[in-house]
Amino acid sequence: MSIISTDSYRTPTSHIHTINEGSVFKYELVKRVGRIQWAQYAQPIFLNSRLLGKKGDDLLVCTGGLSDDSRSKLNLFFDSPIRKFLLSDTLDWYARLVNNVDDQEQKIAAQSDFYNCSDHLPVFRDAFQNVMNEIYPHIYESTGCHWRVINSCALATKPNSDFGMYNWHTDGFPNAIRKILIFPDPLNDDSGTFEYEEPTSEGCPHKIETNGSSWIFCDVNRVKHRGRPPKKGVRNCLQVTIACAETADMSYKQLGLNAHYPLSPLIEQL
Ligand SMILES: [Fe+2]
Repeated sequence: MSIISTDSYRTPTSHIHTINEGSVFKYELVKRVGRIQWAQYAQPIFLNSRLLGKKGDDLLVCTGGLSDDSRSKLNLFFDSPIRKFLLSDTLDWYARLVNNVDDQEQKIAAQSDFYNCSDHLPVFRDAFQNVMNEIYPHIYESTGCHWRVINSCALATKPNSDFGMYNWHTDGFPNAIRKILIFPDPLNDDSGTFEYEEPTSEGCPHKIETNGSSWIFCDVNRVKHRGRPPKKGVRNCLQVTIACAETADMSYKQLGLNAHYPLSPLIEQL
């Protein structure tokens, strides 16, 4: 799924251009080559984790809470003024490509505001590092693999969102990639939440409900999932995309808003 900032759709229609078929072909080609590269990159790491008696690629979902310290640092960032992303801000080549707007894409884009982490980098980096340092030992222990951050974005989901990532879907990443969703506020029907359905329990979705700040590690490629919007206000979320790696690297990265980024271990931006 592509994610584009709301503001990009408020530009005059004269800025909208038609998708270039050559560009689409290039994107699809890079994506396919990227999947092969990710598979080659990931396989030895997963094999190694199995040799250690753990199964890094078998863990579908795990969750946990966050300390008060992490929560206050996260809220410091989420309380900072929002400056929505513009197309000119993003390194996301695909977002520019799909500037040919159709109704569905417009509806998806209108559902969330994306925080511009670059404008508040010291606060964001502090919150990011604090949270990831707290979560990482749990994920390493559960999977038996090391992981590195390859992308992140912070967004505020608006009420009544029900398209794209707020409808049942899988993300379609290569096997080496997972996501961590970090929520500073409690999750429930009123404030918004996250639901998932394991492959072995189709038709019986799980709903995450929490009293405080929380995180969810999810194999978004195999587990059907959907974000649930709040009834009023916004549901803040920090999304972190990670890939299995030889050594841990939890430093902040933000390459673009497209959920498929980065396409390959070798090409991080186009
Ligand atoms: Fe997703």
